[in-house]
Amino acid sequence: MKHVLVIPGDGIGPEVILPSVEIISSLRPEIKFDFSDAGKDEFERTGVSISDELIEAAKKSDAVFFGATTSVLDSNYISPIITLRQELDLFANVRIAKGITPSAREVDMVIIRENTEGLYTGKEDRDALGVTTLRRVSKKGCERIVKFAFDWCERHSRRKLTCVHKANVLRLSDGLFLEIFNSEKAGRKKIEASDALIDSTALRMVMSPSEFDSIVTLNLYGDILSDLAAGLIGGLGFMPSANMGSRNAVFEPAHGSAPDIAGRGCANPFASLLSGAMMLEYLGYAREASALISAVEKTASEGKRLFDGQGRCNTNAAIANVRKTLGIGKASNRKKNS
Ligand code: NAI
Ligand code: MG
Repeated sequence: MKHVLVIPGDGIGPEVILPSVEIISSLRPEIKFDFSDAGKDEFERTGVSISDELIEAAKKSDAVFFGATTSVLDSNYISPIITLRQELDLFANVRIAKGITPSAREVDMVIIRENTEGLYTGKEDRDALGVTTLRRVSKKGCERIVKFAFDWCERHSRRKLTCVHKANVLRLSDGLFLEIFNSEKAGRKKIEASDALIDSTALRMVMSPSEFDSIVTLNLYGDILSDLAAGLIGGLGFMPSANMGSRNAVFEPAHGSAPDIAGRGCANPFASLLSGAMMLEYLGYAREASALISAVEKTASEGKRLFDGQGRCNTNAAIANVRKTLGIGKASNRKKNS
């Protein structure tokens, strides 16, 4: 039996994660879901945003399904998702940008980003003249993300992989990343591998996004490019993601807790559902994963009935539509099965 730890979080996190869990549970009733709290509400209640017990439970689970949490401006508050990435050594972040609504651009790309180092080391030094930030690019970090990206492309029948960097300026750090990419590509003839500068990539992604298939890049570049890619497909509410390591994986919609729309019934559940599909595939349920993706794509393609003039989605209508397409009828209740 597979065990999934669900962390709905704050804001729209529970609004999109709980109905996604119900759908996954209908598709594979034997998956056991356990639920845990983390984030702003938990911090305000207990003084801790993510407990040690939760981290241990995440390590023991087969997968974690994470909504989104709201950051608190308090030096004692730590980000639950960044903590999980570090504690579980989830070195690969995979975000998929596919245009599935009638108004989206023609895009189908995956952005694979190094998830543990780069500018996210949090090491900054202040001196009389300003601040210096330490940006770590390790050989091991580059080797494992590059290998992961080629493996992902091979497993998912992706034909092209672009290494995105700024090695013309950051000659040692990005130069190391590019060198490792070039040496790996020599043994991976099935994939058409090339490299590109981060700035020209941003331009080309806006001008002609269909040129791109898969991208492998360093942490901050991937963070920025994936938001750009989300913008091409109608927003963050359409972008699923996975954080993967050698033993654990955390699946989450790429968006945050969206406090501006929380409680209004207009959170787009597609990113969460598609993250659930990535999780199903990871757990070995490829057939259910592709059924869920097809149902989401069919639902999203009926844009007019689900979105208002501002592009706001009716969460319940979208969920009901996906359930109907999957042939699993109405949701019976919102109870947790743990
Ligand atoms: P956000 O992703 O929550 O929202 C950005 C914009 O996109 C907002 O206008 C929001 O309404 C819209 N949006 C996001 N998801 C949507 C959805 N599913 N359907 C429809 N519209 C959606 O990012 P923001 O505003 O920068 O951050 C809000 C809070 O979330 C902050 O406290 C931030 O720290 C946190 N955050 C948490 C993340 C996580 O837990 N993984 C990731 C990013 C932000
Ligand atoms: Mg981001």
